[in-house]
Amino acid sequence: MVEPLRGKKTSLREIASTDGPALFRIVGDDRVTKFMSFDSRSREVAQKSVDDVVERSKARPRTEYYLAITCAGDDELIGTCRIAYSGMQAAKLGYMVAADYWGNGYATDAVSVMLDFAFRELDLHRVTAAIGPANPASQAVVKRLGFSREGVLRDHVFTNGTWRDSVLFSLLRHEWVKS
Ligand SMILES: CC(C)(COP(=O)(O)OP(=O)(O)OC[C@H]1O[C@@H](n2cnc3c(N)ncnc32)[C@H](O)[C@@H]1OP(=O)(O)O)[C@@H](O)C(=O)NCCC(=O)NCCS
Repeated sequence: MVEPLRGKKTSLREIASTDGPALFRIVGDDRVTKFMSFDSRSREVAQKSVDDVVERSKARPRTEYYLAITCAGDDELIGTCRIAYSGMQAAKLGYMVAADYWGNGYATDAVSVMLDFAFRELDLHRVTAAIGPANPASQAVVKRLGFSREGVLRDHVFTNGTWRDSVLFSLLRHEWVKS
């Protein structure tokens, strides 16, 4: 178990089975999932995905860190931030924030905390993020944190009824500067 990781505006903590309803408010919301690689999920599927995350968090060696984003000083899940190992000292980054909380700098703060954990504690060398071409908010988050655009992954995901490209961004360990 990872001890809570604290940022300026947010904290990251391990997801618990009781986070199902809070996660459903995010993954069941079309405003959020239209940018994700999956369609909106039912309450039952959201709970199952939380239970699966809890189960995977027990794997040793660990394959991912799928953490809850909370506002600093609060325990309620308002988003998630995940890194999943993908190759030698490399990981894929993903995140989402409940629509009612957008525009407060929460994602930037939470991803910054996760990157610090990834490069300093997990000793990763490379972190990538694959983001939809029509997702300027998410692209703004990674650009602000120093990621470089690598190129386009064509028809990368099938989501919301159609194939969608992704723009691939990456950040290397020596490029990471915590603000
Ligand atoms: C992407 C997401 C996580 C951002 O969360 P957030 O807490 O609102 O993010 P922040 O407030 O930290 O930063 C948002 C940035 O996007 C910018 N932004 C927001 N809407 C924008 C738009 N339509 N066009 C351009 N920039 C935009 C903001 O100005 C801000 O950038 P800045 O800090 O440089 O000014 C959130 O919008 C979300 O959950 N979207 C749906 C899921 C998703 O896209 N996940 C990522 C998949 S790769």
